[in-house]
Amino acid sequence: MDTVVEKPAVSMPRIGDRAPEFKAVTTQGEINFPADYKGSWVILFSHPADFTPVCTSEFMTFASMEEKFAKANTKLVGLSVDGLYSHIAWLRTIKDKIEYNGMKNIEVKFPLIEDITMEVAHKYGMIQPGESNTKAVRAVFVIDPNGIIRTVIYYPLSLGRNFEELYRVVIALQTADAFSVATPADWQPGDEVIVPTAGSCGVAKDRMEGKAGEMHCYDWFFCTKKLDKETVFKKILKK
Ligand code: BEZ
Repeated sequence: MDTVVEKPAVSMPRIGDRAPEFKAVTTQGEINFPADYKGSWVILFSHPADFTPVCTSEFMTFASMEEKFAKANTKLVGLSVDGLYSHIAWLRTIKDKIEYNGMKNIEVKFPLIEDITMEVAHKYGMIQPGESNTKAVRAVFVIDPNGIIRTVIYYPLSLGRNFEELYRVVIALQTADAFSVATPADWQPGDEVIVPTAGSCGVAKDRMEGKAGEMHCYDWFFCTKKLDKETVFKKILKK
């Protein structure tokens, strides 16, 4: 009879969960997560390994956008299962030696967690054995100012992330919160937003008869309204 080997259960935090807590050593000192980030949005992300090409391209891109994320009240926190000295050496190499895609002299100022024990990586479902037992996948957790996970995205080792898309995710989440709307496919700031679906027959009728103000209704359950870019950014971006 074949022996059935049970795989260890992988904990995968979900959207709406409280971000799992941890204390960690980083390239910017110790952090107590998510308590130290209360009041800010955070992108907690993992990468497979230091001194690897896709990760290097990602770090240079993300670090060059740090100010842009800061204006959206969003802090970045990286993680890999490498040690602190490897992290420091890699970040120094990036700054001193790597010129890539028009970027050079890039200083990574956000914390990069050392996680040799994989304690944090396991808490966040970043080790996915079908992809690798020894490296974290490219996980992205967008966490709100109350420490609640609002978006989870996982990419495989070979696929570098699109950081403009991650910026779009942050702005879309903040827009949804600030204006009580949803954002349609491919939404960008300045595009129309979706208003909450009619919750009664009367509202549905009014909307279909064009009595619901400045909305465009494709059908009673699918109505949009204008929300210009300036209004979005004025409300959510720091001066
Ligand atoms: C990279 O970042 O280039 C990479 C890391 C691990 C596996 C494959 C690619």
